[in-house]
Amino acid sequence: MTVLAKEEVSSRIAMEKTLKYSQTVEKAGNLLFRFPLKKVRGIPLREPIAQNIESVWAFCPDPTDILIATYPKAGTTWAQEIVDLLLHNGDKEACKRGPIVLRSPFLEIFYPPPMLSGLDLLYQMSPPRIIKTHLAIQLIPEGFWEKKCKVIYVARNAKDNLVSYYHFDRMTLTQPEPGSWENYIQKFMNGDLGWGSWYDHVKGYWKEREKRNILYLFYEDLKENPQREVERIMQYLDLSVSDEVIARIVELTSFEVMKENPMTNYSFNPKNMFDQSISAFMRKGEVGDWVNHFSASQLKIFDENYEQQMEMANIPFRSNL
Ligand code: A3P
Repeated sequence: MTVLAKEEVSSRIAMEKTLKYSQTVEKAGNLLFRFPLKKVRGIPLREPIAQNIESVWAFCPDPTDILIATYPKAGTTWAQEIVDLLLHNGDKEACKRGPIVLRSPFLEIFYPPPMLSGLDLLYQMSPPRIIKTHLAIQLIPEGFWEKKCKVIYVARNAKDNLVSYYHFDRMTLTQPEPGSWENYIQKFMNGDLGWGSWYDHVKGYWKEREKRNILYLFYEDLKENPQREVERIMQYLDLSVSDEVIARIVELTSFEVMKENPMTNYSFNPKNMFDQSISAFMRKGEVGDWVNHFSASQLKIFDENYEQQMEMANIPFRSNL
């Protein structure tokens, strides 16, 4: 009998998990479609999420659980991978144990059975769990505040966030049709996209960050100086890893590496969910790609509207580096 090396065993387990996950999604077939949005306390959410929101609110976290909150497309996966690596002392193999959706479940996600919900996954795991959410702060289950869980928020400048969300909605076949770029800008400004208004989202967490001890990060800072930001996350989580481990985490969570990593690039999501031939999940990973999308007149309208919506907010966003 051949005895397999530890790495080989974990890689095969990861492959099996990934395959099983992909097959379940594939089997869901036409149970998956572009779900309409339904408002919960004024915030549009995908219908299956809206219908199950009470069970999300009933979720009772452990004090050691870590919540990663973002508006969609602000750098969620990046933060999830950094935190998972920090919790595993930069161990590359540990972070290849399964697709990111299984290692770090999506709190509010609900699909028709046989697909598992985020809560199904969370209830199978032991704390500390790394939990992803896109919920606006007022929709976060109270338990996270009562248990004083660590909450990391990642914000991304509005224009790049909008561009990324547009391409995501083109290829994600469970999201509403994005429609034309021109109309999409309008929907973004009106807060009509899934998970609601970007403006209210980023302001909501910003206002509460001190009172609720939320680590508020910016995508642009992560891009500019990942080492500094990984260290900030480490300190916030009361962890201590060596400089060598920090450097390894920075390398393993670079755009280029994550784009090629089958556990983070969403290649595990089959075509009936993510059609990456339309647009890759790991698309560009840049700051400032918005210049390639906005016309001069669109920019003028967007910037004027931004001034109104963000007046007095004083959040130091940067749209260029
Ligand atoms: P783009 O569409 O601009 O490329 P989320 O994980 O919240 O869905 O965000 C996805 C966005 O973050 C995509 O942006 C993706 O490319 C980018 N991203 C993911 N990992 C990244 C990384 N390691 N470095 C930089 N950007 C990353």
